[in-house]
Amino acid sequence: MIGVYDSGVGGLSVLKELIREMPGEDYDYFSDGANCPYGPKPPQEIILRARTVTEDFLRRGTEMVVVACNTATAAAIADLRARYLIPFIGMEPAIKPAALHSASGVVGVLATAGTFKGRLYLSTLARFASDVKVIEQVGTGLVEAVERGDFDSPQLIALLRSYIEPMVAAGADHIVLGCTHYPFLEDAIRRIAGAGVTIVNPAPAVARHARKVLATLRAPRTEGCGSRIFRSSGDDTVLRQLASTLI
Ligand code: DGL
Repeated sequence: MIGVYDSGVGGLSVLKELIREMPGEDYDYFSDGANCPYGPKPPQEIILRARTVTEDFLRRGTEMVVVACNTATAAAIADLRARYLIPFIGMEPAIKPAALHSASGVVGVLATAGTFKGRLYLSTLARFASDVKVIEQVGTGLVEAVERGDFDSPQLIALLRSYIEPMVAAGADHIVLGCTHYPFLEDAIRRIAGAGVTIVNPAPAVARHARKVLATLRAPRTEGCGSRIFRSSGDDTVLRQLASTLI
């Protein structure tokens, strides 16, 4: 079984790509809805949650964990890899492809406060973004909106406008979705940003990487249809809705 973990429903956007890549695998999705959002939380608190969730996965027979949350990856993946023997796949902000393909030399990144503070983000920036201008925007309120099942209310669109329009005005031709909840807002973001802006979602690349890592353990099941389990530490209404429409 492959464990997929997020602070909430956002990781479903990654699970979707994992299923596309390896449909025959059995997936156990865990949303830490009772503790969402992770973005403003101190890293130590996220590390403790990630350990608890991992130990639960291990008891259930998980072979590999996909930390389908940029914020939890930033805070906890090094700790998890040092502590447990199974492989952990994390989210990486897709700055590299955005910087590589940007014609304007300006790239926008939308992520949580915790992700921007992480060492992983800072090292990715230093390695791949030295030739471009990066505009960072904390997506305050967006995770909560997705958790409520709000993808396009007038209030949400106004909030998104306040984040996206300044990036576009500054010349951004790529916007990186640095939080796994944001692909659920991709249509709205695309409408606001306009056709000239490419929205970059790292989930397909993460799923391809997960398949390669799993292949070091055994042959990934790339055909058929495995089982899917959805669990939440909080209210699972939106999780069930999204899981049934998306997966
Ligand atoms: N999906 C999580 C991420 O990728 C959301 C973080 C949060 O709960 O604030 O960062």
